[in-house]
Amino acid sequence: MKYGFFDDLSREYVIQQPDTPLPWINYLGSDNFFSLISNTCGGYCFYKDAKLLRMTRYRYNNVPYDTNGHYFYIKDRDTIWNPGWQPSKTPLDSYECRHGMGYSIFKSSKNQITANLLTFVPLKDSCEIQKITLTNDSEKERNISLFSYAEWCLWNADDDSRNFQRNLSTGEVEVKDSVLYHKTEYRERRNHYAFYGVNAPVNHFETSRDAFLGVYGSAEKPTAIIDGKLTDSIASGWYPIASHQINLCLKPGESKTFVFVLGYAENPEEEKWEAENIINKKPAETILKKYSSEASVDQAFSALKDYWTDLLSRFQVTTENEKVNRMVHIWNQYQCMVTFNMSRSASYYESGIGRGMGFRDSCQDLLGFVHLIPERARTRIIDIASTQFADGSAYHQYQPLTKKGNSDIGSGFNDDPLWLIAAVSAYIRETGDTSILKEPVPFDNEEETAVPLMEHLKRSFDFIVSHKGPHGLPLIGRADWNDCLNLNCYSRHPGESFQTFGPSEGPVAESVFIAGMFVKYGREYADLCHLVGNPAESEHAHKEVAKVYDSILQHGWDGKWFLRAYDANGEKVGSADCQEGKIFIEPQGFLPLSGVGIKEGLAEQALKSTEEWLDTQYGITILQPPYTHYHLNLGEISSYPPGYKENAGIFCHNNPWVSISEAVLGHGNRAFDVYRKICPAFLEDISEIHRTEPYVYSQMIAGKDAPRFGEAKNSWLTGTAAWTFVNVSQYILGIQPTLEGLCIDPCVPEDFGDFTVTRMYRGVCYHISVRNPHHVQRGISTLLVDGVAVQGNIIPFDSGKTDVYVEAAMG
Ligand code: BGC
Ligand code: NOJ
Repeated sequence: MKYGFFDDLSREYVIQQPDTPLPWINYLGSDNFFSLISNTCGGYCFYKDAKLLRMTRYRYNNVPYDTNGHYFYIKDRDTIWNPGWQPSKTPLDSYECRHGMGYSIFKSSKNQITANLLTFVPLKDSCEIQKITLTNDSEKERNISLFSYAEWCLWNADDDSRNFQRNLSTGEVEVKDSVLYHKTEYRERRNHYAFYGVNAPVNHFETSRDAFLGVYGSAEKPTAIIDGKLTDSIASGWYPIASHQINLCLKPGESKTFVFVLGYAENPEEEKWEAENIINKKPAETILKKYSSEASVDQAFSALKDYWTDLLSRFQVTTENEKVNRMVHIWNQYQCMVTFNMSRSASYYESGIGRGMGFRDSCQDLLGFVHLIPERARTRIIDIASTQFADGSAYHQYQPLTKKGNSDIGSGFNDDPLWLIAAVSAYIRETGDTSILKEPVPFDNEEETAVPLMEHLKRSFDFIVSHKGPHGLPLIGRADWNDCLNLNCYSRHPGESFQTFGPSEGPVAESVFIAGMFVKYGREYADLCHLVGNPAESEHAHKEVAKVYDSILQHGWDGKWFLRAYDANGEKVGSADCQEGKIFIEPQGFLPLSGVGIKEGLAEQALKSTEEWLDTQYGITILQPPYTHYHLNLGEISSYPPGYKENAGIFCHNNPWVSISEAVLGHGNRAFDVYRKICPAFLEDISEIHRTEPYVYSQMIAGKDAPRFGEAKNSWLTGTAAWTFVNVSQYILGIQPTLEGLCIDPCVPEDFGDFTVTRMYRGVCYHISVRNPHHVQRGISTLLVDGVAVQGNIIPFDSGKTDVYVEAAMG
């Protein structure tokens, strides 16, 4: 069943009924200020950091689901309704929500009044703009009232949700004309405040939540709105909010438009406070003035649209399959931008106060983003590398605002160091900018320790070399990519989270997955050493890789598939010898794409076993058979009921690894089949089963062992976005950035047809057309570059050109 449709020309997903199976959300903001917004106007906003500078309040685990947001209420005599349906849930005569690139539009009507609400965050300013137009579609004059509503969060969202004894006495507001200021914390010289203004005189306002909702009231039926008149309350402590009331009279056919601006402001550093607690309103007034007219809002909106047109033009594809086109051209890249911005911090499943920027996560997010804005990827690499320790290990998370490593979570995930090599290598293949390797970067943010980024990569590499176990395989530490495979973890206290207690590295538990990563990224490290004129280090790296490669062949092969790990007792994990968890996806997916076991025929066999053991109609499960009880020697993985998350769920992130590996082996039909199964646009028709948004990937789909097989969870913030983009763009369509230039090596299903790709690469626009007259799955027979035949399939990069025309024929 569908709840909407894709409008590809507008690059929007159009939701046609408000009660979707789960809130279907969008992200507004591209730089510093972000809002999450659901299809019923739920959500919240923050400046830079969803934990430390949260502007509006949202209650996760709320009842009913998703009921705090930036709402508008319309009171039309006794009828109170909302353009996004929630929170009043008054049945609407019509409803539509369009989620687009960085904006959402709601259009709904009730009793011949239509509300049209556009909401977005402009490119350069730290605010959310809400332009709302009300139209009288009836023949009679109508007197109605419009109310805005946002509930302030007292900045630190973690403290806000816990420290009531203090916080219920700190709230402060100020009102000037139509602007409602939230200035809690300002007294402490925190230098920031929030504001909510509208470009029209208001009749009344409310800043106390109790006055607005009623002490025992609710957002569904706010007392003050029922009364038809806000009380001009000035909040003092308790729960500060911001609500404007505008009474308006609409003649038949008449429309009126208002622009609301919900913003974040900071005093310029050098400006002193005039006196305690008197906010400097200038920064807010500047923004409010800038967006005081409809024309200026329309201009900012069209600038946002142009921005996305430009970004998405950097990788465009036309195939015979419209679902592939819309995913690759629009939604997959959009999600890559969102994951790049958010890492794993704020979604409807990540609270914003838990995880921030993940070292491993952000390095992988960058793989799908670097072609969009390489300059931002460069800055991000430096930020991430600055949280690395001198021994090559790294903080697993850091806070986006401070960019400092999070010591609560700490380090010890032994795959982390290698992801840094992955990110830097992808950046250089994309841009050719080797100057980044000379950039001075500190360890643990201590400036005086700075060394060139290249040295960080060496520390990453050496960390693995110096942390190996009895089988010559890398030690796993607290966990590798699979956070829940805690092989050195024995117990936790009731209620203690798996993330906060810190099992340290044991001397025995080893990861075959990290071994595969070491082969891939160790070789990429060697290539970089070679590139910058250090052949000795390059050769050394290749030798170390060869050792680990041999260890995989000797101790990492289980007969029909790759083993997953050795636990702290030296027992096999992910082996036919195990009772449960006999086969895991990670090594089967990652080792072949790393080039492990291809010439030995093991890769081919591992992928066959994957299909035989792990595949389902909704995607490939992470392991089989699931763990039916808790295994002390395995940790969190076995804490999940069978079929969910890391315990035999379809963990989408590693499905593209399998697809890539299939492509590396030339299996175009199968590579695409794996791609298609978890691809959201292909799941739109089963939204009642899949339940999350049909335009973005989710982290997990319940596996066949779960009662809710096929149901997705944790949409948006997942490495699936980046890895799928790498898969479809570089392996299936086969347009691969290499150190020398673009490589053309498609691997497609026989019936995929011809296709074209337009791709910006190092400032040059490549117009690539691929024909497949003989319906093969892999292999280019001829390659013409600007009409001239080229040997092999790499187009040597030529910076002297602005456009390059490429004609490739498969067969
Ligand atoms: C989840 C993992 C996640 C980890 C984050 C676990 O509970 O199952 O998917 O990576 O938490 O710390
Ligand atoms: C989600 C985490 O964000 C990611 O870092 C991890 O690799 C997967 N879960 C698997 O545990």
